Amino acid sequence: MCGIIGYVGKQNAIEVLLSGLKSLEYRGYDSAGIAYLKSNHTQIIKSVGKIKYLEEKIDKDLVSNIGIGHTRWATHGKPIEKNSHPHKVGKFTIVHNGIIENYQALKKILNNYKFKSDTDSEVIAALLDKLYNEKKDILNVIKQLENLLVGSYALGILCDDIPNTLYALRKDSPLIVGVGENENFIASDVPAILKYTNKYMLVDNNEIIEINDKITIYNSKLEKQDKEILIFEGSLEQAEKNGYEHFMLKEIHEQPSVVKETLHKFLQYDLDSLVNEMPNLEKYKQISIVGCGSAYHAGLVGKYLLEKYADIKTDVYIASEFRYQKVFIDKDSLVIFISQSGETADTLASLRKVLEEDIDTLAIVNVIGSSLAREAKETIYIKAGPEISVATTKAYIAQIAILSVMALSIGTKKQIISDKKALEIIDSFKKLPDIIENLIKKDYKSIAKTIYDKDTCFYIGRGMDYALSMEGSLKLKEISYIVSSAYPAGELKHGTISLIDEGTNVIAIATDKNISDKTFSNVKEVKSRGAFVTLITIDTIKDEFDFADNKIIIPYINDFVNPLITIIPLQLIGYETAKLRGCDIDKPKNLAKSVTVE
Ligand code: AGP
Repeated sequence: MCGIIGYVGKQNAIEVLLSGLKSLEYRGYDSAGIAYLKSNHTQIIKSVGKIKYLEEKIDKDLVSNIGIGHTRWATHGKPIEKNSHPHKVGKFTIVHNGIIENYQALKKILNNYKFKSDTDSEVIAALLDKLYNEKKDILNVIKQLENLLVGSYALGILCDDIPNTLYALRKDSPLIVGVGENENFIASDVPAILKYTNKYMLVDNNEIIEINDKITIYNSKLEKQDKEILIFEGSLEQAEKNGYEHFMLKEIHEQPSVVKETLHKFLQYDLDSLVNEMPNLEKYKQISIVGCGSAYHAGLVGKYLLEKYADIKTDVYIASEFRYQKVFIDKDSLVIFISQSGETADTLASLRKVLEEDIDTLAIVNVIGSSLAREAKETIYIKAGPEISVATTKAYIAQIAILSVMALSIGTKKQIISDKKALEIIDSFKKLPDIIENLIKKDYKSIAKTIYDKDTCFYIGRGMDYALSMEGSLKLKEISYIVSSAYPAGELKHGTISLIDEGTNVIAIATDKNISDKTFSNVKEVKSRGAFVTLITIDTIKDEFDFADNKIIIPYINDFVNPLITIIPLQLIGYETAKLRGCDIDKPKNLAKSVTVE
């Protein structure tokens, strides 16, 4: 989604803004722009397309010590220059990430303004100008602005009358304050400023930030707030590629350490930490899991484990559906929200729907201090570090790791799983990073070569394997643009098999010994109709599997760790196929890393 950067300090703001915007590119955008103060007047330069086109418009000798920048992912108005940010109306220049839902109504009280763009954001600049002309008290003007706006926003604001000060505020869209030496920043996230500082402050909804030679943060009553200065644990290198060709490959390779880091807190003291570090969840009679995309797919994995080993009825919902449908949750329910970014609009809206009912909520989130993390009653952080590639891998595996250990913890507390068995499973989790490491090193290129030149690919599986096939299919389609679908293997006969032709690719997953024969029959059915089948199955099933064209044999350990093993070949088949097709793997077309709009 949109990215914001702002700077006040001793360096040339133009360079800082451009550097920050480049670090925000992964959020997905279609235009970019900067505004800077020069001889007490705000100047704007903006451009459609990549940031390099913006750079070409900027005079190399241009210097300023204060400015704001923006990468836009179009929501209101086409991705054309007039709709790009920053927007200036009268004395006020702003950059905005979010959606102003009442912008049309606000235009009615701004009828003496002529708008140059089709955006909701320009209305904010006009409103600021109108309110300021009525009373030149900037903090009260911004406070009035907050009372008038309906929707979500992270704002950077410059005012011609106050040339050495940058203002900012947020509601429901991400924004942090960067703390430097004689220089300070605002940004949508920390990697945008990591080149200059790793110190930052979190900003709460409706707080007003004032940055000149110091940082002052006011609450909605305009009382000064003391904020803790946090140190970002990641480094710029972590947000860089570390020598890998793509962020996605780097992040796949980070998975062994991510799983270890994420589970360390729950497993370091074996049963004691397994039982005591996981929130007390065994009291719930029903669990609902809500998420989008891969986060939803992680929830499907969680469902199988929570129902089978924690004996808790678990339903999984796509957030954009959950937020509008009637759901049957009550005081005995827990609703778990899964989100890497913690800023996904539909997932946030679903949380807020549940919070109105005063139902217990738990967020499984990667980004520290994100909106979901701050608004849910409880939060479990995955320790995936910054995930730059739009296609999630390490965050997904960390999400299913948490859900798996959650099922193990509840099952142990309920004595559905004996302490002895639990200790064995804990031990298998501790061995898991090495197993993942070895699996990542295998060759998937040869399999990708049998897929990359086809236009379609089907994934099939049963039970847990069906949940995993959905994530495998999403990985393939979102980065290689091959039309791909995941089906319960038993469903093929109910329609889909009509699509199977000579050479149609089918990736079959069969890792559950109790039902693998059924899936093998489905493989033979599609083979007899000409399909080209890649089979992913386990080493404890003794068979030649000569009915499949490609075979990937993975170790079977137990139901808790095996989903984290099966997903590895699925991720890498997607990656290698997209690479063969020459796709923009880290920034697939039309996609954004964090979907902060509906
Ligand atoms: C997954 O590869 C996609 N990038 C997308 O489906 C993503 O999982 C979804 O948008 C949810 O994002 P979140 O985890 O940040 O809420």
